[in-house]
Amino acid sequence: MAVTRGEFSSRFGFVMAASGSAVGLGNIWGFPTQAASNGGAAFLLVYLILAFTLAYPALMAELIIGRHAHANAVSALRLVSPNRLIGNIGALAGIAGLIVASLILSFYAIVAGWMIAFFLSSIADLLGMEKLSLWLVSFSTWRNLLFMLIFMTLNIGVISAGVQGGIERWSARLMPVLLTTLALLVVYVLTLDGAMEGLRVYLLPDFSQILSPRLIINALGSAFFSLSLGVGTMLIYGSYIKDEENLPLVGGMVTVLDILIAVLAGFLVLPAMYVALHSGVEIFTESGSLISEDTLIFTVLPELFATMGITGIIVSLTFFFLMSIAAVTSSISMLEVPVAYAIEEHGIDRKLTTVAVGCTIAAISACILLNFDSLFGAVITLTTRYSQPLLGFVFCIYAGWVWRRDLLLQELRKGNPDISEGLFWKIWPWYVKLVCPVIILAIFAQSIWG
Ligand code: PHE
Repeated sequence: MAVTRGEFSSRFGFVMAASGSAVGLGNIWGFPTQAASNGGAAFLLVYLILAFTLAYPALMAELIIGRHAHANAVSALRLVSPNRLIGNIGALAGIAGLIVASLILSFYAIVAGWMIAFFLSSIADLLGMEKLSLWLVSFSTWRNLLFMLIFMTLNIGVISAGVQGGIERWSARLMPVLLTTLALLVVYVLTLDGAMEGLRVYLLPDFSQILSPRLIINALGSAFFSLSLGVGTMLIYGSYIKDEENLPLVGGMVTVLDILIAVLAGFLVLPAMYVALHSGVEIFTESGSLISEDTLIFTVLPELFATMGITGIIVSLTFFFLMSIAAVTSSISMLEVPVAYAIEEHGIDRKLTTVAVGCTIAAISACILLNFDSLFGAVITLTTRYSQPLLGFVFCIYAGWVWRRDLLLQELRKGNPDISEGLFWKIWPWYVKLVCPVIILAIFAQSIWG
């Protein structure tokens, strides 16, 4: 099918888009709360080790396969396969990936909708519209549906504009705003009373937890989710990279940025919790652990902001603005996965495809919202805990075992002719071949039967 493919115009554009995909609610919300409930800096340490030794090699597998094929995951895994059977299995994994990406987007859009609602509620507070502000922060089916739809419309708008006009343009605009906003918030929160106590909890490791299977599984899940692995997102972004680009280098930049922002978010969220404690807000559960997940973001932090008067409204507005941006740059990358597949495999026009796929995912989101108690948590567990590591495993197998090593090297040489002499080529092939698959499976087995 002769469809002209999009391409990122520059290295900066790619790094912003891929780190925009990586940096999302997983970093700013997931990582700090996981760290808080898993031994603080002990979690941070395990996370850093896993991110560099497992997630980075898995990210490289996706980027290299994608760039080689200049196609979506389904065609790409077929292309690197030596025969039809293995090709078909790869294609099935690619299809599973696009289903998982769509399902992740269907719950992500709900949470992102809440972020936008909380952001608007702060504006309503500033304007003195109390009733509206209260409605915006109250959990109701109508509010949830409305903001999920608004969020999906934003996504459809960006993705229908294509790779350069949509993904690259918006990521390059929003990522610097995200970084600046996050840095400003960190600096501000660290000046408040109680912040140092939070910093202590974050940075003092509880080494007694470091080998606990729960900590390791959580850190692996976080690293995979955070780097957007296992669903073909990084593969499709890799497929839009120019041939001259040095892949290990740009993949490294994305990994470092992603980790950096997660770590930075820890400097915001944990100190903020202890500032809240200092102001009389309850931050511990009955069992004595720190409150985490949705209660933290939608109850503890807003209660903290409420004790700070007008400054609190501004801080709240900034915080939920940050969360909304992080959510948009990640979710466009999820939507791109099924959209790219439909365009390339079935030759359908981008705008039409984006609207059709976006509406289908919005319909799935609506089903989740209407059966919230039974579906919301189940979809998150199914996609992030089981599917992502398993599909990440499949991508590693295709890069490490299925694809011919000389062809793989040829692909890497395009952007870095001397790569075979460097450290990357000495270590990485063994990593994707043996280390990554074995460790992913071991951790996975432990999470099911352990
Ligand atoms: N990496 C994103 C985050 O941290 C989530 C994501 C998962 C994005 C899978 C794309 C694909 O929030």
